[in-house]
Amino acid sequence: MGAPGSGKGTQSQRLVQRFRIPQISTGDLLRSAVARGTDYGKRAKAAMDSGGLVVDEIVLGIIRERLAEPDAVRGFILDGFPRNLAQAQALATMLEGLGVAIDAVVLFEVNYDEIIRRISGRRSCPQCARVFNSPGAAPGDVPRCDQCADHPPLVQRPDDAEATVRRRLEVYERETRPVAQFYAGQGLLRTIDAQAPVDEVTARLMAALSSVPPPA
Ligand code: AP5
Repeated sequence: MGAPGSGKGTQSQRLVQRFRIPQISTGDLLRSAVARGTDYGKRAKAAMDSGGLVVDEIVLGIIRERLAEPDAVRGFILDGFPRNLAQAQALATMLEGLGVAIDAVVLFEVNYDEIIRRISGRRSCPQCARVFNSPGAAPGDVPRCDQCADHPPLVQRPDDAEATVRRRLEVYERETRPVAQFYAGQGLLRTIDAQAPVDEVTARLMAALSSVPPPA
């Protein structure tokens, strides 16, 4: 858990490498649905573009489908879900049905000036989805992906405009903060100061997860 730009996606990718279990990001799944023009995607687009939350019915539908895929059997990392109390309660019911339990909930804390700075510099590759921050480019040139063979130009997410980021932060405080309290009440919440270089945040995350058993 954490505000937009707090580093959830960046650190989840590191957990994937470490634990060999999938990252399940509702933001990525919704962006993929929008790009493919699915029914869910068409219905989610307006809320995403405005920085609001997509309705629970859609989000829970895509989570239910994703958790049923075979690679989720050994475990999974939820990134950006649940984002309100209704989603947290629905997740509890879903997991009970699957006979699995949450090991830990990690909350990333980063101040808002840093969030605006990080998000305004974020660019990603439309092919491999790798995320870059403030990628360098010669004046007048467009930054390109250095990982893909044909070096496609990097793109900015439509919801990363500053006014939309401010709306996302308001929604986060109103809807998502209470979810942290929900998990704190269950003894699952670990809060880390995520305002530090990426490697340092990874070290803090691993320390916060040190009591979690590795997947079988
Ligand atoms: P989503 O894609 O989940 O966006 P978000 O939560 O706003 O989070 P971000 O992806 O912006 O940030 P992040 O915390 O992953 O940070 P990142 O690692 O990329 O959701 C988008 C939209 O989808 C929502 O607004 C909503 O409409 C909808 N949605 C999604 N889930 C939903 C749900 N459950 N219910 C309803 N609607 C939902 O890092 C950000 C930048 O900072 C990058 O450039 C990165 O390189 C850089 N960076 C990362 N760590 C560091 C560091 N330590 N130091 C310096 N830079 C860093």
